[in-house]
Amino acid sequence: MSDNFPELVDELTADEAELLEEVLSDLGESRRKFIGQSSTAVLGAVVLQFLAKRTALAGEEMAEFVPLGDEQAVKVSFRVNDAAKSVSVDSRMTLLDALREKLALTGTKKGCDHGQCGACTVMMDGRRVLSCLTLTAQCEGRSVTTIEGVAKGDVLHPMQTAFIKHDGFQCGFCTPGQICSAIGLMHEARNGELSYVSKDMRKTAASITLSDEEIRERMSGNLCRCGAYPNIVAAIREVHTGKATDPMAVIFDMSKEGSDATV
Ligand code: FES
Ligand code: FES
Repeated sequence: MSDNFPELVDELTADEAELLEEVLSDLGESRRKFIGQSSTAVLGAVVLQFLAKRTALAGEEMAEFVPLGDEQAVKVSFRVNDAAKSVSVDSRMTLLDALREKLALTGTKKGCDHGQCGACTVMMDGRRVLSCLTLTAQCEGRSVTTIEGVAKGDVLHPMQTAFIKHDGFQCGFCTPGQICSAIGLMHEARNGELSYVSKDMRKTAASITLSDEEIRERMSGNLCRCGAYPNIVAAIREVHTGKATDPMAVIFDMSKEGSDATV
């Protein structure tokens, strides 16, 4: 409030007075005159009018985000982590939001929500997909596996065990997506699917043995702000080759001059 504000506004509540100040801020030179010639009732009426207008405008803005009616809802039945699920969702709701908001499976993380970070990776019918770019409506009759479903009871998936062994995470935010992506990567290699850096393009049917370069390329859609990339590659390599490696080897590799420590 300015020093010139008349005493008559003292009768307004703090919120009303603040609103009045906001209303009058555009009046410039005529503001003092306006206030001087106005009674509390007039000022109060201005505030009320302003409030009513603002409420109406808010209502209009809200109208653009009105909750969806039944005509826009779809019922989707699918399997999630080997359990039958049926959800009624907005036809535009992503699988990521359905998992987190409707099924309380918050292990799948929302990073960018634009298909750029890989934090939301889950598996659908055994293939890795970005759940932020997948509509729930597309999942009818499909089988989705999230990070909550990769372990068998208390027995961790080998990829989870390897991530722990090799310190494949720090804050852990990207980890569910990394692990789901890595499991999907294994299936792709077993199916002989090629990547951008595959050397032998004739190997399309047989299983592929992945080099570190292949692992890096195939995991390049999963970003890690903590930079746990060398450890992630080590974990995946161990599961892929079945050969146990010393977690400390990553540290020694990183300390080598010119070491490429990124995925
Ligand atoms: S949240 Fe889906 S890719 Fe980033
Ligand atoms: S462990 Fe923190 S973002 Fe990957």
